[in-house]
Amino acid sequence: MIMKLLTEGKTKKVFSTSKDDEVLLFFKDDITAFDGVKHDVLKGKGFLNASISAALFQVLESNGFKTHFVDFIPPNIIIAKKLQMIPLEVVGRNIVAGSLTKRIPLEPGIKLNSPICEFFLKDDNLHDPLINDEHICNVLQIVNHEEIEYMRQTVKKICKILDKYFNDRKITLVDFKIEYGRLDDQIYVGDELNGDSMRLWDADGKILDKDRYRKDLGDVIEGYIEMYRRIIGEEGLDEIFG
Ligand SMILES: Nc1ncnc2c1ncn2[C@@H]1O[C@H](COP(=O)(O)OP(=O)(O)OP(=O)(O)O)[C@@H](O)[C@H]1O
Ligand SMILES: [Mg+2]
Repeated sequence: MIMKLLTEGKTKKVFSTSKDDEVLLFFKDDITAFDGVKHDVLKGKGFLNASISAALFQVLESNGFKTHFVDFIPPNIIIAKKLQMIPLEVVGRNIVAGSLTKRIPLEPGIKLNSPICEFFLKDDNLHDPLINDEHICNVLQIVNHEEIEYMRQTVKKICKILDKYFNDRKITLVDFKIEYGRLDDQIYVGDELNGDSMRLWDADGKILDKDRYRKDLGDVIEGYIEMYRRIIGEEGLDEIFG
C-alpha cells in the first residue's frame, strides 16, 4: 500500500490509503498543551490513545452514532472514513471544569443540571475561542442551523451515554471534545476520543487525563494507563510498557 502523508497535526499523522474514501490515522507519542507551547514525548501514549479511541468509537457506533471509525490496527493506527473536517471543537460538559470556571462563577466539580454543549473555533492563533451560533452559521458559515443543531443534540446524547459507560467503570466523565467532519452530506464524529480530549476523574477524584500534563501533576502516562485498564483491561500493556 503506497501511503502519502496528507496532514500532520500535533498528535496524529494522517495518511492516504489504497482506498480513496479512507485515511490512516497514526497516533504519535507526542503530548502537547497550551496550543503546542508545551510539548513532550511519552512512550506508549500513541498506543493508549489509539486503543481508547477505537474502543469508544465502537461504543458510539453500537449506540447508533455515525463515526469515522473503520478499523483498529494495533498498536497505534486507526483506519477511518476520510472526512472534510469542520473546524470546530464541540464540547460536551457534565461537570464544571476547565475554561467554564473562567466564564461562569461556579466552582470546579459542580454537576450541571443536564449536559451542556459549547462550540469553539479550531484556530490555535486565536487560542480556540468560544463562538456562538451567529458566528458559526451567519458570519463564518461553517455549518448551517440544521447542522449545528444536529451537532449540539448528538454531543448531549453522547454525554449521557459516555457518562453511564464510565460510571460503570468507576470513572467520572467531566467533559469531552468532539471534532466532526462531512462525508456525502452527512456529519460524522471524527478525530479522537481519549485522555487528550476528555476529562476523566477516578472515584477518589484523581485526575486521569491530560490535565495531569497541563497542571504538572506528574505520572501522566500512568493516568492514561489507568484509563486504558478500566476500558480495555491488561491486554497489550506488557508488550508496550513491560
Ligand atoms: N476522519 C478524518 N479524516 C480526515 N482528517 C481527520 C479525520 N479525523 C481527524 N482528522 C484530522 O487529523 C488532523 C491531525 O490530528 P491532530 O489531532 O494531530 O491535529 P491537531 O494538532 O489537533 O490540529 P490541526 O488540525 O490544527 O493540525 C486534524 O486536523 C484532524 O482534524
Ligand atoms: Mg487534535
